[in-house]
Amino acid sequence: MARIAYDDADAAAFEAARHLTDDGLAAWRTAVARHLSPRPGMRVLDLGAGTGRWARAFTTWFPGIEVLAVEPSEAMRTRSVFAPVVAGDAAHLPLDDDSVDGAWMSTVIHHVPDLAAAAHELRRVLRPGAPLLIRSAFAGRHEGITLFRWFPEAIRVLDTYPSIAEVEDAFSRAGFETAALEQIPQTTAASLREAATALRRDAHTPLKLITDDEYAAGLRRMHEGTRVENRPVVDVLDLLVLR
Ligand SMILES: C[S@@+](CC[C@H](N)C(=O)[O-])C[C@H]1O[C@@H](n2cnc3c(N)ncnc32)[C@H](O)[C@@H]1O
Repeated sequence: MARIAYDDADAAAFEAARHLTDDGLAAWRTAVARHLSPRPGMRVLDLGAGTGRWARAFTTWFPGIEVLAVEPSEAMRTRSVFAPVVAGDAAHLPLDDDSVDGAWMSTVIHHVPDLAAAAHELRRVLRPGAPLLIRSAFAGRHEGITLFRWFPEAIRVLDTYPSIAEVEDAFSRAGFETAALEQIPQTTAASLREAATALRRDAHTPLKLITDDEYAAGLRRMHEGTRVENRPVVDVLDLLVLR
């Protein structure tokens, strides 16, 4: 079970609120290119592809690569801007052994119930030496994510996510080694006002899992913040690269 259902309501909120512009993702594009070394004909798994924005971005950014999008939630698959997206999850990949040249997991690892099973399954489908890029917020690392400034109670939810050490440990048992750990910035919104207007609680797992009172208090803090802050909202997430 994922931490949240990714049913119709979650999927609709995610689709509406969690999409960044190409300019906002410039640093991610550079980082992915550095670690994936994209080349025509390369096959890249997008695991937990959600509404397909990354799969679509990868095929636009890196012409000639083939993206294999796998996603367990039917509601997310239905809303995908990328096709095809096939059913599957981290422990059950509808792919042959040694059949992909790279894999991408964006804000998925905390939903995976059995890290060891996922690690073995990814080891099975990735060719030897191929990179697995994990984009995520990890336990103990809330500082770069601006939402936690307004919703500090949500840090306790983040701290139930796997830590980097836990992910490295599970994947090392399946034969992966850590190749890199980087902090990558993204422009999430042009201003705090824009971020506050676009915010949808259902689109953010840590906000779904705090109490209604905590959410209401955070929302008040965020809206008060819009009176004094007018800079772009920049968040920093981790990129963990395993091979
Ligand atoms: C926060 S969304 C991220 C979607 C997409 N990767 C993105 O960054 O836009 C998390 C996704 O992980 C999927 N997911 C949940 N449990 C999973 C599992 N065990 N294996 C693979 N994906 C899973 C959910 O259905 C959801 O689409």
